Amino acid sequence: MASVAIGSSEQYNYDIVRKFTIMALIWGAVGMLVGVLIASELAWPFLNLDIPYITFGRLRPVHTGAVIFGFGGSALFATSYYVVQRTCQARLLSDGMASFTFWGWQAIIVLAALGDVLGYSQGREYAEMEWPTDLLITVVWVTYAIVYIGTIMKRKEPHIYVSNWFYLAFILAIALLHIFNNLAIPVSWNKSYPLFSGAQDAMTQWWYGHNAVGFFLTAAFLGMMYYFVPKQAGRPIYSYRLSIVHFWALIFMYMWAGTHHLHWTAIPDWSSTLAATFSIMLLMPSWGGMINGIMTLSGAWDKLRTDPILRFLIVSLSFYGMSTFEGPMMSLKDVNALSHYTDWTIGHVHSGALGFVAMISFGAIYHMLPRLWDTKMHSVKLINVHFWLATIGTLLYITAMWISGIMQGLMWRAYDDFGNLQYSFAETVAAMHPYYAMRALGGVVFLTGMLLMLYNCFMTISQAKSVPAGGLAASAA
Ligand code: HEM
Ligand code: HEM
Repeated sequence: MASVAIGSSEQYNYDIVRKFTIMALIWGAVGMLVGVLIASELAWPFLNLDIPYITFGRLRPVHTGAVIFGFGGSALFATSYYVVQRTCQARLLSDGMASFTFWGWQAIIVLAALGDVLGYSQGREYAEMEWPTDLLITVVWVTYAIVYIGTIMKRKEPHIYVSNWFYLAFILAIALLHIFNNLAIPVSWNKSYPLFSGAQDAMTQWWYGHNAVGFFLTAAFLGMMYYFVPKQAGRPIYSYRLSIVHFWALIFMYMWAGTHHLHWTAIPDWSSTLAATFSIMLLMPSWGGMINGIMTLSGAWDKLRTDPILRFLIVSLSFYGMSTFEGPMMSLKDVNALSHYTDWTIGHVHSGALGFVAMISFGAIYHMLPRLWDTKMHSVKLINVHFWLATIGTLLYITAMWISGIMQGLMWRAYDDFGNLQYSFAETVAAMHPYYAMRALGGVVFLTGMLLMLYNCFMTISQAKSVPAGGLAASAA
């Protein structure tokens, strides 16, 4: 790995990393705040105040857009630009193009949220944006690919470190997914019709949806893991060979598993079986990766006692292991017959999203921040408090959803002695209320941690003496 003086932004473009890092923090707080609001609306529906713009249906995609693309996406841009420069010992291909990806990406998040609130939507989960925004995404993403690949091509280090492989797979896969899932015929500036229809349309959407999870929410964050875990632990990755096997196995298997989102629907049965088979197989590379990350600490476990950043990183891997065990189980048709449509899925999502994606991003940002501003963190104690709030918040959230989801599924399928359904739908909703309240509480705890992080990071930035030479203004040029 490259070894350079901390904060030497003459050599590298850190300005773009700083900007994306700040936006990751801001979108994280906004997205989680909306998450808490919609969780509360589910528990106490009067909270939508009968205002159409803030009803659950409109705010839900605002939440997913802000946390996945705003928070997660900005964290990925920041870390990928940081990692590619340091591991290739090369400055980004073009400062101007990198800057375009920043402004373009932020515009996309805002346009997506506006579309959701105003009711302009394709109705495709995680791809709600209408065609003009989709075109902008395509341009920004291609620019990102050019900057990233161009930087790798001008590297001074002969080897391409494994993190870059994961980031590259993410960039290429998302380009492919985005284009095919959004093939549509526009009829006005805010309305289009998809090219596919019926079962094909559903399969395209869930090929996209699943691989958005596989490449955006997983492969890219594993790229983050392979850089930041060894760096923070001060040790080389446990097995570099395993990381390569991990990469190829994961990349090969993910693409086949999308139809596990469509079990028991009008899709061909063989495609359901194929998806379940590949999902079970996915357990192996996923756990291989998790073990590789966690075992990097062998011989240095004591650091977990003193270093809250490392704790974030390692606990995130444990949640990764948990959700990649749960996912394959849920992909089995019989288990899915119970879990699908219930809150169990929501619990699974957030054990991955809060436990893995958010926690590993927190760890990576805490690692980078002092290096980017050439200073020390304002308060390590606050990082520790944040760690506990994030862990407790996640556990409250997912436990509530497991209980609520399994109860919901069992109530739906319960029959009385006469063969009638034992419970009405309204009864199942009433039974879930305490768990919805518990999830909202978990959300508040998690959000409190996020706000502490925001405060801690802004204090750190404001205490930094000055932006390192060649900083914000220079490298934005
Ligand atoms: C304070 C933290 C959070 C809270 C309170 C929260 C709450 C919620 C709620 C209430 C829903 C809707 C559930 C439903 O439809 O029944 C939801 C959906 C979702 N959230 Fe979050 N969330 C939080 C953080 C996050 C983060 C950080 C991510 C991703 C990195 C995330 C990703 C998602 C996704 C992907 C869905 C859609 C799930 C699906 O369709 O199955 N959330 N969230
Ligand atoms: C081996 C790995 C994994 C497998 C096989 C897997 C499998 C599944 C299955 C079977 C479902 C339920 C589909 C349904 O009934 O509708 C699901 C939903 C989901 N999973 Fe996973 N999962 C894995 C890992 C993860 C991870 C690590 C994350 C997050 C970082 C994640 C995020 C999601 C999301 C967001 C959904 C909800 C999609 C939606 O309905 O909107 N999964 N997953």
